[in-house]
Amino acid sequence: MGDTKQTFAGNVITDMCGVAYPIVLAGMAAISGPKLVAAVANAGGVGVLGGLRLAPKVLREWLRETRGLTDRPFGVNIVPQFGGPAVFEAQFQVILQERPRLLSLFYAEDAGADLIARAKDAGMIVMVQTGTVALARQAIAQGADIVVAQGSESGGHLNRGTVGLMSLLPAIIDVAHGCPVLAAGGITTSQDVRAAMSLGASGVLAGTAFLASEESNAHPLYKHRILEAGTDDTEYRTGYSFGWPYGTPHRVIPNRDRWNLLRLIGGGARAIDQDSVARKLSLYAGQGVGKIHRIMPAAERVAELARGLS
Ligand SMILES: Cc1cc2nc3c(=O)[nH]c(=O)nc-3n(C[C@H](O)[C@H](O)[C@H](O)COP(=O)(O)O)c2cc1C
Repeated sequence: MGDTKQTFAGNVITDMCGVAYPIVLAGMAAISGPKLVAAVANAGGVGVLGGLRLAPKVLREWLRETRGLTDRPFGVNIVPQFGGPAVFEAQFQVILQERPRLLSLFYAEDAGADLIARAKDAGMIVMVQTGTVALARQAIAQGADIVVAQGSESGGHLNRGTVGLMSLLPAIIDVAHGCPVLAAGGITTSQDVRAAMSLGASGVLAGTAFLASEESNAHPLYKHRILEAGTDDTEYRTGYSFGWPYGTPHRVIPNRDRWNLLRLIGGGARAIDQDSVARKLSLYAGQGVGKIHRIMPAAERVAELARGLS
């Protein structure tokens, strides 16, 4: 855990979640698996499982596997629009039964009030990620305990804003009435954390920086493309991304091979996928890619980010 391992006491997120640092792993579908979540949790952050698209049985296995790898608190992310109402309800029942510390919701506006109330009744903390002030207001009115301000720098899907973090974060804090707000989008280094905290964030949430960690489920070729990419190399798109409604905004490192039609699909190749998939998709990644030069253990990334807290 390195020499930065002092707890960051008196912070609303650390107090609420029972962790050392207000540093949260994005619950990246398929990529944030038990090993990565446990590594972040054991290093003092909040690990969040990527639960999207997991069959209820597998979701339970992942939650239990994570619990076997860490005795620290952790969370799980879900996106209600996937799988249809019956499958989603079965997924949600697993979460209520297994009860990780935190539930992270994305694209949950319609189902939000009901889900938030049920998760809170079960004793969970509920975090909602939004990319507009209006959606943040709505999440807070629905009872969210934590709101994530998702800047347009962010990798993967965006909900739904095109607003950069520097404008979005203070605007959401203004309407949050004391509800803690995390900063997301391009958070990669201790300087990024320092900047976010100085704008009033209660902590940070990072995806791409942890995607490029040893424990993530990302395909080795995917991790390699993150290392190769520079700051200018990601693209905001509204076309097709794997399994999402057409037009859902997302940020990728585009594949420029013009004879390869799969380049038009945004995706996130896993270690278990064929090499050809990782080579052909346009891969989810945030604008922080230019600052990622090496695949490191997740604990090292947590320690790097934690240095920005002091
Ligand atoms: C590969 C990848 C997959 C993602 N999958 C999800 C997801 O399943 N659910 C979710 O709420 N957010 C997901 N996100 C978005 C993150 O929650 C977060 O907004 C984003 O990673 C922050 O920007 P950053 O990648 O620059 O750190 C994903 C992001 C990436 C990069």
